Amino acid sequence: MCGIVGYVGKQKAAPLIIEGLKRLEYRGYDSAGVAVLQDGKFVVAKKTGRVANLEQEATRHRLNGTHGIGHTRWATHGGVTDANAHPHVSSDGKIALIHNGVIENYVAMKKFLLEKGYTFKSETDTEVLCNLIAYHYAKEPAGANGDSRFVESVRKSLRHAEGTYGIVVMAIDAPGELVTARKGSPLILGIGDGESLVASDVSALISRTQNVVYLKDGEIAHLREQNFSITTLSSGAVSPVVDKVTWSIKDAERGDHAHFMEKEIFEQPVALENAMRGRFSEDGSTANFGGLNITANELRSIDRLVFLACGTALHACMVTEHLIERFARIPVECDYASEFRYRNSPLFHNTLFFAMSQSGETIDTLAAVREAKRKGYKVLAINNVVGSTIAREADGGIYQHVGPEVGVASTKAFTSQLLIGAMLALYLARLRDMSFSDGTQLVQALKAAPDLVRTALKEAPRIREIAKRYAHYTDMLFLGRLSLFPIALEGALKLKEISYIHAEGYPAAEMKHGPIALISEKCPSVFFVPKGEMLNKIVSSMQEIKARKGPIIAVVTDGVELPPALADEVITIPDCHEAVLPIVASIPVQLLSYYIAVERGCDVDKPRNLAKSVTVE
Ligand code: M6R
Repeated sequence: MCGIVGYVGKQKAAPLIIEGLKRLEYRGYDSAGVAVLQDGKFVVAKKTGRVANLEQEATRHRLNGTHGIGHTRWATHGGVTDANAHPHVSSDGKIALIHNGVIENYVAMKKFLLEKGYTFKSETDTEVLCNLIAYHYAKEPAGANGDSRFVESVRKSLRHAEGTYGIVVMAIDAPGELVTARKGSPLILGIGDGESLVASDVSALISRTQNVVYLKDGEIAHLREQNFSITTLSSGAVSPVVDKVTWSIKDAERGDHAHFMEKEIFEQPVALENAMRGRFSEDGSTANFGGLNITANELRSIDRLVFLACGTALHACMVTEHLIERFARIPVECDYASEFRYRNSPLFHNTLFFAMSQSGETIDTLAAVREAKRKGYKVLAINNVVGSTIAREADGGIYQHVGPEVGVASTKAFTSQLLIGAMLALYLARLRDMSFSDGTQLVQALKAAPDLVRTALKEAPRIREIAKRYAHYTDMLFLGRLSLFPIALEGALKLKEISYIHAEGYPAAEMKHGPIALISEKCPSVFFVPKGEMLNKIVSSMQEIKARKGPIIAVVTDGVELPPALADEVITIPDCHEAVLPIVASIPVQLLSYYIAVERGCDVDKPRNLAKSVTVE
């Protein structure tokens, strides 16, 4: 939520910052802005809409400075206007600031600052913080504890700030310096050759350097061309750890694909191979996870698992619940992270928590992790973004290893979460009841997933044709049973977030308890119809829809024969093991949503009102 880039070095800052903002646009795209310090003053260009608009605006301003900050905004406080866009400059012209997060006590701060004579041009909480830093900067005689006046004024201001922030600050009298600090919003320092950068996401730094430092909550960094230092909010020195990013700029580029979402859908076979690489035991009967930080004996003594997540990641947890209960026979509960943190539900001893989050920065999931830890429970994380806050705060975990996911609609991250969930079920089951031969069979089934997905992707041209016939509808239902019920929820979420068609997911049999009232020739249903014990029951539900003239798209596994004329469209996926079926069944609904959104002319990678990672409550 909101993209942040800061640069100090020898190059012209504005083009580098704008380049970085383009890579961060998926974090928010209501407005964008850039400020550089040149000729002793801040020159600011900002514009509502996409970074492309900013690029034009920036040309008019002749931004030549080698030290600057830039921001792409997802609006929280204040509408989408040029005035509310970041960077903000304090009314005395001394401080420029970009911010991700929410300053909750900004009203009281603003009152104080108005009394001191500071004035405001925007409705934002950010401009208030900017002026508070200017207030301390004006008052600060010289740096305490060896810090500069600049760092000290940021530190003092942040001690008064309630809420969340990732900020980057410039001071008029400090050319060649940036101060950056975080609490609840991610920030990563890029340590380049004679230059320093900061961004809310590695993808904005990677073209300049692969050496990064993940800033922690409560830390303040002081960046200069040649060096940097980190202290805490309470002014203690920090010894930074420099990490190396393992992926390259190419992984974060769209290549020949029309959209990142399309690229990421078609990357899934390789993504699944990466997610499982090196994670099966030598004897081929179980999975291995290097970073769980929990012993086999501890795991054997666990009575209950709780999975916490939001959105798509929660759907992956729900499939994982099904598989763990089925294979490992451990009771599992899945909870919306946003509800768990406030619900205060009674918790049992011997419970282990898992937090699933692609970004590892979702604020609700992070808060739920902290709540579970506060109550004394061990929390393991399943994340894609290496070094993310949840990954660092959890007691251990599993990385998804699928590379950067840029499309706001999650696809490859989702199927890799499903795969890891299935591998976890296998691992836990083998620590308990599952036999060697059942384990071996399950390993073989999981290893087949990438090829099964390759086969499912071959249906793309047909699904594109189907999408053309269904793109004009305004409502759609997605219906599935057992482990495919969460895939129905996910199909509905995908469709609504990128094509703005109202869609709902239900367990197929639940449809007659209410949603069937929606059914008419104007409301199509997508049914998951796999071979197996539920087949006849699902076919009965389809008959009930057909009797009410509802159009039906059936996603069937190979070999299923439906009564004639029951389905209007049939999409076939390979028949496969139940642990892999949710992965394979996700492919047609991802493609259907994608092609419908394209057909409707929607901005697939930047759906309205959404941002890739939700770092505000
Ligand atoms: O980064 P996370 O996995 O924590 O994100 C959780 C949700 O915000 C995310 O899955 C969201 O629902 C996606 N836009 C769905 O495509």
